[in-house]
Amino acid sequence: MDFNNRVVLITGAARGLGREYAVRFAASGASVVVSDLKDCRETVASCAEQGGEALGAVTDVTDLDSVNRMVEAAAGRFGRVDVLVNNAALFGNLSFAPFDSLHESEWDATMAVNVKGIWNCSRAVVPVMREGGGGSIVNVSSLAAIYGMPNGLHYTTSKAAVIGLTRGLAREVGRYDIRVNAVAPNIVETEAAGEFFGEVTQKMLDATRAQQAIRRTLEPKDLAGTVLWLASDLSRHVTGQTIMVDGGTVFL
Ligand SMILES: NC(=O)c1ccc[n+]([C@@H]2O[C@H](COP(=O)([O-])OP(=O)(O)OC[C@H]3O[C@@H](n4cnc5c(N)ncnc54)[C@H](O)[C@@H]3O)[C@@H](O)[C@H]2O)c1
Repeated sequence: MDFNNRVVLITGAARGLGREYAVRFAASGASVVVSDLKDCRETVASCAEQGGEALGAVTDVTDLDSVNRMVEAAAGRFGRVDVLVNNAALFGNLSFAPFDSLHESEWDATMAVNVKGIWNCSRAVVPVMREGGGGSIVNVSSLAAIYGMPNGLHYTTSKAAVIGLTRGLAREVGRYDIRVNAVAPNIVETEAAGEFFGEVTQKMLDATRAQQAIRRTLEPKDLAGTVLWLASDLSRHVTGQTIMVDGGTVFL
């Protein structure tokens, strides 16, 4: 896929899957803006190794002013934004615990980052995309929402909200040639997955693999291909969809 002359903004890109997407976009010719609460220097360096131009922006997606500054920096440096990947989320450091033992503050924080964060980024980026003649927004949901993952009701609920947000926003912005889709991945072995599942990580990976038609654990590159496809013109007539990248666990 060719992303030459395309500007891609990815949130939550300091590590993990966000970094993988950034590197793949950079390797495909995109100019990449990588943002996170944390410093994105390593991701910027990885993008540069691929010959891609990258800009890091420390951003809190729950704070609209911070998000607006990120989008201004992106437009200031590259002149446009063609793709927004809403990847930032609270996941790794969340409690993996029964629904009635979750703390209210953690519930609220999860909704603020995983749901409101996408709303904030969308309302900051859509005017820039409109001005540029269109664009593609890719939201990161999770198979947890479709499968109904237990012991993480705040996370599961937030990722279900991402699917509704994707559908509603797709209807609102399609007239501007802006597409909005989501990916819903099964467990991918990232640092965050290890933090979330803790000592039962291996058990969860084994159990997950056993339910997949394709009996191997998903790797970050399994997701990147779908994200890049949704971001590219190859999917130009696809909007409002949630694509399960789950090795064949749930069929709709
Ligand atoms: N790894 C998996 O098994 C898996 C499965 C399904 C979905 N996902 C989703 O994929 C995405 C990436 O997952 P990952 O495993 O790479 O996790 P990760 O924790 O490594 O990545 C999330 C990033 O978001 C950043 N972030 C958190 N709060 C933020 C805020 N307020 N503002 C800006 N950035 C913030 C974090 O600093 C982190 O770098 C997440 O949306 C996650 O929910 C992951």
